[in-house]
Amino acid sequence: MNFQLSEDHIAIQQAAREFAENEIAPSAVERDKTGEFPTEIIQKLGELGFMGMMVSPEWGGSGLDCVSYVLAMEEFSKVDASVGVVLSVNNSLVCWVIETFGTAEQKEKFLKPLASGKVIGAYCLSEPGVGSDATQQATTATLQPDGSYLMNGAKNWITNGTTATHYIVFAQSEPGKGHKGITAFIVDKGMPGFEIGHKEDKLGIRSSDTCSLGFTDVRIPADHVLGAVGQGFKIAMETLNGGRIGIASQALGIASGAFEKAVKYTFERHAFGKPINQLQAIQFKLADMQVKVEAARLLCLNAALKKDAHESYIKEAAMAKLYASTIANEVANQAVQVHGGYGYVREYLVERSIRDAKITEIYEGTSEIQHIVIARQLLKEYELQQG
Ligand code: CAA
Repeated sequence: MNFQLSEDHIAIQQAAREFAENEIAPSAVERDKTGEFPTEIIQKLGELGFMGMMVSPEWGGSGLDCVSYVLAMEEFSKVDASVGVVLSVNNSLVCWVIETFGTAEQKEKFLKPLASGKVIGAYCLSEPGVGSDATQQATTATLQPDGSYLMNGAKNWITNGTTATHYIVFAQSEPGKGHKGITAFIVDKGMPGFEIGHKEDKLGIRSSDTCSLGFTDVRIPADHVLGAVGQGFKIAMETLNGGRIGIASQALGIASGAFEKAVKYTFERHAFGKPINQLQAIQFKLADMQVKVEAARLLCLNAALKKDAHESYIKEAAMAKLYASTIANEVANQAVQVHGGYGYVREYLVERSIRDAKITEIYEGTSEIQHIVIARQLLKEYELQQG
């Protein structure tokens, strides 16, 4: 593996860092308090090409690789993990799935505006009674004589739920076939019978928008079926493999942001007659945090390189997500500890990293699910090697 970043990668990282510092950071504290969605920021990110980073220019995207995506996600999430998740869902879970499985007509109609950031999308797999056990979709899509489907059911915890215009929705279209009867659909905001539920009041990533959705006899035209009928579960899982690289990078950004604040603070704060970074207790914490951040970064880049090389990245994406989300929580906690009492108040910004980090162990597959994915994949690889 070659982790040497190219000049193009460094330029993208720099552009993302400058945008994060100049355009995102100034309003992040206020949006964390109010829960206001970062509408203008997302519009600007669209204009700069960050909302469809990996989509081909033919379909309105920037045609960049996954390494660039990891670098940008870290920079944005360092200052505001809410912006990070909006961007990640649009890029990984919405644009990617339409570009990979959509027809040319669907790409023209849906992907172009999504990739250029004119509108944003949402990915709807979780339900009130279905989270980790995602094969058990209770939302139904019943085939009608004219080829359309009638959708009924509910979805939960939907990122970009109130702000999206297009929703990738997974539903059981052939009952009795289990996960092989699940189909993916593109549902548009405003379709009769499609209701947007209330926005959740969350612990962290407070200015991202998360809500429930309801479907009552929503008529979905046949040309809104995404991929083959019955292929939906596979599509959902393959989409999440890439999504997990995005969330791993978001977690990395939360960790590196908290770590950088901690390092800076140790130069400013004095105790026992010297800056606290001269105390071994603090130095050990900084060293541990540095190792964790760097290891998470390498796992994220490793997964991205595998994806860019068109190699299997299921295990690598899950490892990156599992590790980066674990250390994001640990590093955020230690960064607050380094700040002492000041770390516990909003004025010093670092407390938000603890609240933002927690969700990275839950969404796009809990840490427990990542363990399952990694173990199954490594055993499969072992068996293949043994012939
Ligand atoms: N990549 C590709 N295919 C996969 C896969 C993966 N990671 N995981 C499973 N599959 C395939 C299997 O190969 C199998 O295919 P076949 O039928 O052809 O053999 C099929 O899917 C069923 O898989 P399993 O038999 O392994 O099913 P299972 O029930 O034992 O396990 C699971 C499935 C791994 C637990 C899966 O349900 C899962 O990943 N659950 C977590 C769901 C999740 O991540 N939800 C996140 C919600 S989205 C979100 O959070 C977005 C947001 O807003 C931020």
